[in-house]
Amino acid sequence: MGSTPQKPNTPKPGAKGLYIKTYGCQMNVYDSERMRDVLAPLGYAPVETPEAADLVVLNTCHIREKATEKVFSELGRLKDMKEDSGGIMRIAVAGCVAQAEGEEIMRRQPAVDMVVGPQSYHRLPEMIARLSRKTGDALEIDFAAEEKFDALPKTRDVSGPSAFLSVQEGCDKFCTFCVVPYTRGAEYSRGVDAIVAEARELARKGVREIVLIGQNVNAWHGAAPAHDPKGGEWGLGDLIRHVARIGGVERIRYMTSHPRDMAEDLIQAHGDVEQLAPFLHLPVQAGSDRILKAMNRQHTAEDYLRIIDRVRAVRPDIALASDFIVGFPGESDKDFEDTLSLVKAAGYAQAYAFKYSPRPGTPASGMHLQVEEAVKEERLARLLSLINEQAQAFNTATIGRKLPVLFTRKGKRDGQVLGYSPYMQSVHVEHGAHLANQIAEVDIIDATMTSLTGRLVNAEVIA
Ligand code: SAH
Ligand code: SF4
Ligand code: F3S
Repeated sequence: MGSTPQKPNTPKPGAKGLYIKTYGCQMNVYDSERMRDVLAPLGYAPVETPEAADLVVLNTCHIREKATEKVFSELGRLKDMKEDSGGIMRIAVAGCVAQAEGEEIMRRQPAVDMVVGPQSYHRLPEMIARLSRKTGDALEIDFAAEEKFDALPKTRDVSGPSAFLSVQEGCDKFCTFCVVPYTRGAEYSRGVDAIVAEARELARKGVREIVLIGQNVNAWHGAAPAHDPKGGEWGLGDLIRHVARIGGVERIRYMTSHPRDMAEDLIQAHGDVEQLAPFLHLPVQAGSDRILKAMNRQHTAEDYLRIIDRVRAVRPDIALASDFIVGFPGESDKDFEDTLSLVKAAGYAQAYAFKYSPRPGTPASGMHLQVEEAVKEERLARLLSLINEQAQAFNTATIGRKLPVLFTRKGKRDGQVLGYSPYMQSVHVEHGAHLANQIAEVDIIDATMTSLTGRLVNAEVIA
């Protein structure tokens, strides 16, 4: 979440400055990286501030009302910057707000030059050309995931040790609160060969951890490649096993999953694929069967807890994460108590909780018995306090253990380096600046609710 780090380089002479601000989920983070790849051949190079940019792209999120509001206030600021630039700056709005409210954006904020939906950003070069010629459409919001993936550059400009790899897009689940099926379109799985080629390219460029991403990543499926003697259809478990065989790939994660698509083979992979991190983000949203039904989740609280039991049977130390919504229409005190009970029964390493936000065009926004704001606030505070307690307990339990930490960046203090454990806990280590982008063994000596402190076992890099 938040903005994507920009590369700290200023553009070469003759190059054009590009500033992309990213809101929302992992899909947008990936898309922002790929927009940079798409625009690089046109001479666009990342700059640190929007003021220094010839092209500013807001890659937006529509999931809750607040997320959408942010876009319009940011556009107000950019409009002034554009005027200060003497009209040189171009502004593009991409992502899910672009998809859902493209025309509205063009109407409300004339400073916006282009609106491009999440399935159309491979057309940005064309759109920029049209803009210079002052002809044609400045709005591209088609749904064509297949075309998008085929059209993206085969090379990727990566810098860190961990990279997202998009394997699946879109959603056909239609949870009644959610805009994603409308902003991202129908479920689409990329083919095995394209995914494996991208994974190899990442490994070749020094990536140690590959995160397979999708809106419903465990709904991924694809025809087995020709070399597989079993043939037939692959699921995400098969894909993970295949990616694990690529040299240099030390860790694999995947997100975000839906309980209905937690296939047996994927669960088994947690038991037998060494590189697969012991971490599972499996959102449940609520603990009351009545509410789960109204949300159209198509599983019960019991179904969910049984899935967790099966995962824990093959991987007892799995760190579990989830998302919750409080104050869904009709949620009673009793329903909310059921959510607290489910959290206690599941035991989370971390979880996100949100107040229900009615979204235009979704079935839940028109339901009776919308819950009052004050009740939502109170439930959110109670749920967060339980989640925080569990996060603290999970982190405290790792004190005294030795964990392999993937170091991703420098800390604020001199020599300090930050990374994360296989359980997705942030870890700080002093005197480790030489370890950036590597994996090293760390003794965990202290824990808070949000992070761990560690000491290098020896100064050795293990991967
Ligand atoms: N595809 C993922 C995540 C979708 S969006 C999944 O199926 O779980 C991320 C999270 O935002 C959701 O898990 C949900 O908890 C939250 N969310 C989605 N729509 C919301 C809404 N209208 N109000 C509040 N939270 C919402
Ligand atoms: Fe939204 Fe539900 Fe699809 Fe997740 S599964 S993206 S919550 S509709
Ligand atoms: Fe937001 Fe779109 Fe992701 S609505 S959460 S950016 S799929």
